[in-house]
Amino acid sequence: MEQNGSPYVVVSSPGMHDMAERVVALIGERHDLHLRHVRLEVETFANGEVMVYVPETVRRQHVFFFHELQHPSPNDALMTLLVANDALRRASVTKITLITPYIAYLRQDRKHKPRVPISARMLADLIESNKSVQELITADMHAEQEQGFFSIPVDNLLGLGLFAEHFKRHLSDELVDAVIVAPDFGGAVRARRFAKKIDDAPVAIFEKRRPRANQSEAVSLIGESVVGKIAIVCDDMIDTGGTIRGVAKKLKEMGARKVYVCATHGIFSGNAEQAFAELGFPILCTNSIPRNAEYYAQHASWLNMIPMEELLAETIYESSLIGGSISKFNS
Ligand code: R5P
Repeated sequence: MEQNGSPYVVVSSPGMHDMAERVVALIGERHDLHLRHVRLEVETFANGEVMVYVPETVRRQHVFFFHELQHPSPNDALMTLLVANDALRRASVTKITLITPYIAYLRQDRKHKPRVPISARMLADLIESNKSVQELITADMHAEQEQGFFSIPVDNLLGLGLFAEHFKRHLSDELVDAVIVAPDFGGAVRARRFAKKIDDAPVAIFEKRRPRANQSEAVSLIGESVVGKIAIVCDDMIDTGGTIRGVAKKLKEMGARKVYVCATHGIFSGNAEQAFAELGFPILCTNSIPRNAEYYAQHASWLNMIPMEELLAETIYESSLIGGSISKFNS
């Protein structure tokens, strides 16, 4: 017999319990579809090995599995994902739709010099090594073509729509003077797409140099001038924040009237939070990397979080539950 009369169940890893619960509630409210939510239990042995336990039966069910790939570290989170997928498969699920809004390792998507790995591809292979994982829902992959590293269907949600709505609501009059800025060539397509949502705003693209990992230098700006303009920088992620701080400084030196920043994944490694708090310019991120309310309260002076639960709820409903299209809210 199916659990709760539904062939679907939501399972979440500890970091994603709250997000999964809100998504379940939204699907219930909007579509009168009430999904069971099972919270995965995770323990760590004294030597660091991880062990997971699915505390309720999920037999013969299609599992929507919420997992995060950043905390406690990308490496530990990846191992937890692999063992959790194994636990679900051995618990006789029919299939797993994996929901990881942020996927670690996607920056390493090509051999930019000899004898380096393509870790993003390897990560895709590792995830797909479990044949129960048959669909992936994520957000703002570092490069869209990385969908091709997976052979299963991938829904890549875009933070751009959420950010555009926010800017239209809060900067409506100023937006006539907006220039959308890509911090590097890799972000040019994202910036153009974003610009279309901001009434076809002009675009400028930085040439960035990376002397080594986690160090970057914005060199020159190509495209629209930013003199006297509102510069809106958009990126997929902020890690140490070096890229964004360099770009913002350069834009100010070049005469931009104001600088705003939006990036889907706010990782904030090292002293990024402190550095942004000292600079005091606003950063817009989604909650693709889950954090508690205290975190957002503590960083409210510079960080503005746009939740992505609605986008996830509609995507799960349309793409997986009724087989509809997600283009209407994700293009
Ligand atoms: C790079 O290609 C990415 O899109 C981000 O710009 C970069 O990973 C951000 O890293 P960080 O914040 O450490 O400069």
